[in-house]
Amino acid sequence: MTGRFITFEGGEGAGKSTQIGRLRQRLEAVPLEVLATREPGGSVRAEKIRAFILEGKAKHLGPFAEAVLFTAARIDHVDRTILPALQRGVHVLCDRFADSTRAYQGASGQVDPELIGSLERIALKGLRPDVTFILDLPAEVGLSRVGRRQADLGEGTDRFEQEGIGFHQALREAFLAIAEADPERCVVIDADRDPDAIEEAIWSALRERLPELTGETRAAHVA
Ligand code: TYD
Repeated sequence: MTGRFITFEGGEGAGKSTQIGRLRQRLEAVPLEVLATREPGGSVRAEKIRAFILEGKAKHLGPFAEAVLFTAARIDHVDRTILPALQRGVHVLCDRFADSTRAYQGASGQVDPELIGSLERIALKGLRPDVTFILDLPAEVGLSRVGRRQADLGEGTDRFEQEGIGFHQALREAFLAIAEADPERCVVIDADRDPDAIEEAIWSALRERLPELTGETRAAHVA
């Protein structure tokens, strides 16, 4: 069996990495083999491109050039990390993927959706997430979570966190529109609540969409 490909999307401070960590633990307890990865990044070359973009070095080139760079990183990530894992039967949990380019560079950055679609076809070569969780919350709530986390860790803001509230509101709308256009793949999760409730919402959506992963059939059998 080939592995399942599950992506997590959403604005800043939605709690994706916490939820990926929790889902990974639950799937490993089933037990299943899981790989957690992220974009931009997830392969040696893609991590180098990540550093370049998030330090803001491509900002002056404009959102289209940034979309091209995210795509270049994605090509390497798909070829070197994601596809080989799926082919080995490993389930892949990915923190951001092609929907982020649609939302950040497309809707918020105003790059033509046709161009974004072409870049997506080149990078994905037919690969499509089995399920995409869109962690949704008001932009102000997400940004204030990020602010608090950075103050605790003494970190600075990255390229996209520096954008204004209007950018982040457009981003939220863009993710919701993506989910509405593709309800078979996307599940919108209310992320404006405590992490345990979000974890349960993700698990129950997964049980409906991919029951073979949540071990339900096996547990029912044993009982
Ligand atoms: P990261 O620190 O991983 O942020 P987060 O925790 O919010 O996922 O930084 C990734 C940033 O890059 C984030 O601001 C979203 C942005 N991004 C794009 O603009 N386009 C893309 O295609 C991807 C994958 C990310």
